[in-house]
Amino acid sequence: MKHNWKFKKGELNDAYKVDFDDSDFRLVSVPHDYAIEGPFSPENDKQGAKVVADGIHDKMIHVGRTGGLPITDWAWYRKEFYVKEDSKKVFIEFDGIMCNSTVYVNGLKVGGRIYGYSSFSVDITEACNFGAQNLLAVSVRPEHTASRWYPGAGIYRNVRLIEKGEEYFPYLPLFIRPSVDGNRAKIDFDIDVVSGGKDYKLEVAIYDKAGELVAKEEYHSNKEKYTSEISLDSFHYWENLKSYLYTFEAKLYIADKEVDSVSSKFGIRTIDYGPDKGLYINNRYTKLNGVCMHHDLGALGAIVNKSAINRQIEKLIDIGVNAIRFSHNPPSPEYLDACDEYGILTIDEAFDEWKMQKVANGYGKYFNEEGEKDIRRMVQRDRNHPSIIMWSIGNEILEQGLIYGWKYAKFLSDICHDEDPTRPTTAGFNNTEAAFTNGLAAEVDIVGANYKPHQYVRFHSIYPKVTLYGSETSSCLSSRGHYYLPKRYPSIAEPMDDLQMCSYDLEGPPWAYAPEREIFVQKNNEYLLGEFVWTGFDYLGEPTPYRTEWPSRSSYFGIYDLAGLKKDRAYSYMSAWTDKKFVHILPHWNWNQGDVVDVHCYTHAKSGELFVNGVSKGIKHKDEKDELLSNRLIWKYIDFEPGEITVVVHDDTKMSATMKTAGEPKYVKITPERNEIKGDNEDLVYFVLEILDENGVLCPKANNKLQFSIDGGEYVASDGGDATSLRIFTEPYCEAFNGKLIVIAKSSTPGSLSLTATCETLGKFSSPIVSVI
Ligand code: GAL
Repeated sequence: MKHNWKFKKGELNDAYKVDFDDSDFRLVSVPHDYAIEGPFSPENDKQGAKVVADGIHDKMIHVGRTGGLPITDWAWYRKEFYVKEDSKKVFIEFDGIMCNSTVYVNGLKVGGRIYGYSSFSVDITEACNFGAQNLLAVSVRPEHTASRWYPGAGIYRNVRLIEKGEEYFPYLPLFIRPSVDGNRAKIDFDIDVVSGGKDYKLEVAIYDKAGELVAKEEYHSNKEKYTSEISLDSFHYWENLKSYLYTFEAKLYIADKEVDSVSSKFGIRTIDYGPDKGLYINNRYTKLNGVCMHHDLGALGAIVNKSAINRQIEKLIDIGVNAIRFSHNPPSPEYLDACDEYGILTIDEAFDEWKMQKVANGYGKYFNEEGEKDIRRMVQRDRNHPSIIMWSIGNEILEQGLIYGWKYAKFLSDICHDEDPTRPTTAGFNNTEAAFTNGLAAEVDIVGANYKPHQYVRFHSIYPKVTLYGSETSSCLSSRGHYYLPKRYPSIAEPMDDLQMCSYDLEGPPWAYAPEREIFVQKNNEYLLGEFVWTGFDYLGEPTPYRTEWPSRSSYFGIYDLAGLKKDRAYSYMSAWTDKKFVHILPHWNWNQGDVVDVHCYTHAKSGELFVNGVSKGIKHKDEKDELLSNRLIWKYIDFEPGEITVVVHDDTKMSATMKTAGEPKYVKITPERNEIKGDNEDLVYFVLEILDENGVLCPKANNKLQFSIDGGEYVASDGGDATSLRIFTEPYCEAFNGKLIVIAKSSTPGSLSLTATCETLGKFSSPIVSVI
């Protein structure tokens, strides 16, 4: 159910009625996020808030906290659909509606969901006209002050119409539990069947990655839940960063007639962990080099798009990321599928709030009625994904501070174990001390600590039975390619006049620290399972440290900016988490005569020599004992002279990088990130545009405005990653931010696609051709 949805914003109380006049609704396709359409305004999410967690004890006006986009407008979707004459049961499956949705079919209320991140299925059989057209209407009624970040708005995930006969597999019928016994694998499974007590036959087949049949069994029963096991004499492990997925397929027969089928991918892998030994995946010691991710896809908003998801994952893998914590809510099924396919380890997290609210209309309001349902659904929906290694029952839950908070934790942790006895539970604790002493932390299997690198060793000695990892780390702030002089050293970020953040990777909110601090502690303590950096990509909303200042509408926390372009920090992680050999210098080299600049370098090497216009400024070594800044080379107080700086490293082979002073902007270099896309109107190509001088040097402050046109396809959106831009992402123009930006395009017809960018002062530039297949 992708196309031909009619959409309109407004209260429109009668829009559920079949004869409602929707002639002024507009046509949209789902997944659809109406808030990303803008406009940005500080009025959209203005709120008086006392964010104690941020160390702010006075109430003050916050703007842009949820992205400054109109996320609280109410809206309606209406869609006609046909139901076959001979269908017996009809359902609509929603992967998520943001939020407080109510679903109507032919004027009758049939369901809905408060929590925007929950998937749900609505039985619409009683309301349907068979062999005829039907009308689906969905109302969305988000509340003000209900989120701490940009949630998106509308039917932002996929929707499916499901038609069944009398006997069928219901919603989420499968639970596949692979285990390993020596060289063999055992695949236990439960499968739900609706047969009304009739005898049925189940045919279960397992296919390997190449699609070859590896096992097939037949079962006869009349039970509502069928449980059995299949043994594989040999098998392939699903491994971290080396995926191997099997397909489990079940067919349902009544009197030898096939009446339904279901299939699911699964992987065979083991998890083992302990307070002293750390984490083992398939008996192999594994350190979690992870990132936290919110669910938005930058310029696309909150919609689900497989190719944007793949792009994020590929960029994360490029810098050595092997794990993602979905903060602080279940992601789309497609994101988990992609993690299964790339071999990324994941934490699926249910909540940011239990009963105690962090924001005035937060989920806590509904926790008593909805909490159990939502966390059960998360586990039921996601438990076949090999990528998931822990269920998180919550993030920085305020009940951590309560004497009886453990009761909630036990309740939720027990639900996860009940729905899935194969995986450990966890939570992200910031009030770690209290959670340890009041017993709340003891209710989860693995304890996640947020921003506590200085405490791990102490925790480990006082609580030797606790398995520990960094569920949130660093929270360093930066705007890509943005630097201020003089540079202060690790410090609390102060608001700057231009509402950006300095990219020396040294600043953050009071709880934050430079990347290497956590890298250092993790490297030196084998028992720690690893870390999840806050965050992999910038996300919409939470523009810390800006609160009342406008415009600032997206975060500065990402290793990548909102456009998915690498910030300097990416190279810090790359040197710690990969074997890549490289030299990356910061800042740029376009300063004024008389400026005194600190030069930093991220590299695999342990030492390097800096040259300014050929003159050595000395050799620097990484200080491996410096807990705070162990992972970079630093030359302080270098007098700026135009020309070039070079860092030469020679641990084994000699390597160097040079940063040159750029002249005036001269041309635009356009590089597509992919040479080929599918012409399915969903696959995306991202073009990277760089403003260069006549010698091909990136102009590090260029902010030229470019106008776009696409040949052979459709323009989707663009973004420079500037957290202060109020341009709507779908406008066909964009200003470069610090010399760079991205343009996103797609196509619905095979052939070729190209981008032309026009700049009033520089001229017209074309991209290389991208094939559309
Ligand atoms: C954490 C919180 C995250 C985010 C982060 C910013 O305390 O769990 O959601 O707000 O701080 O540093």
